[in-house]
Amino acid sequence: MTKRIIIDTDPGVDDALTFLLALASPEIQLEALTTVCGNIGIDKTTRNALAVLELAHASHIPVARGCSLPLVSSPGKSGEVVHGTSGVGKAVLPEPKSQPVEQHAIDYLIERILAEPQEITLFTIGPMTNLALAIRKEPRITQALKELVIMGGAIKQGGNVTPLAEFNIHADPHAAHIVFHSGIPITLIPLDATYKCLLTVADVERLNRIDSPIARFVRDATATYMDFYKKYEGFDGCALHDPLTLAAIIAPEIFTYEEHHIDVDISGGVSNGNTFADFMKISKKPANMKVALDVRGRDFIELFIERMETLSRSIQDST
Ligand code: BDR
Ligand code: CA
Repeated sequence: MTKRIIIDTDPGVDDALTFLLALASPEIQLEALTTVCGNIGIDKTTRNALAVLELAHASHIPVARGCSLPLVSSPGKSGEVVHGTSGVGKAVLPEPKSQPVEQHAIDYLIERILAEPQEITLFTIGPMTNLALAIRKEPRITQALKELVIMGGAIKQGGNVTPLAEFNIHADPHAAHIVFHSGIPITLIPLDATYKCLLTVADVERLNRIDSPIARFVRDATATYMDFYKKYEGFDGCALHDPLTLAAIIAPEIFTYEEHHIDVDISGGVSNGNTFADFMKISKKPANMKVALDVRGRDFIELFIERMETLSRSIQDST
């Protein structure tokens, strides 16, 4: 059965690729995007969300603009070095014609989730500021949401923004703390899994045998991202962090999941934003989420490329 999803996002190169993968996946009905500051500021993340939907002929999908600052912390490190100053690498997207809906993302999420209890699966692929505030404003959404899939955290793996913390959690650790302890059924896709999903230059070249604005967008958007990975991580390619979350629906068999009690450090010290699992059950607290600690990464990349090829064939240049 098709799953209806909303994506809360800070596009962001890999965020943008997540929307394209959702649109290319028959198992998914993308209902809306809600935007948040994260990789870059809220004006640009909202613009990019609208522009990428337009590129994919999907501007009927509503976009609600959300929070421009984290809950408590000062804005963290900008993601511009990874995602480029525009947020979509070297891709140049025309100014979108569509506008965000009038409602703030927090109210939009509350309304959509409460209107159809147990129908909507939410994906958060940026800092969780919008969801945390929605929970505080209307706690009933924790019962009404079908499921939450989070890209965030690093459990056995080191961090990617500090030695101990992953970007999305570190950008708003207090929001993550509220969400982790909300009682919502959570699937966590941390760096432990996403760093195994590496898109290579050869993959992008294969896709670009099809002449399409989608294939070119994937090539141009990932160019800056790949430069970053080469310089700082020493490999030719880039990790598809955010798109991998959708595999929780479209290819669940590729993951190795464990259930654990997972918490986040909000003490403000050197490990601020660190996510940690109680592997030895020392706290005696019940598991609060399912976490993907391993994945068949290459299987996911093949699936991603195949779906981008199909989408690319369906969206050609207008003459
Ligand atoms: C996460 O951080 C962002 O830069 C990416 O878009 C992804 O959501 C990976 O740590
Ligand atoms: Ca993101």
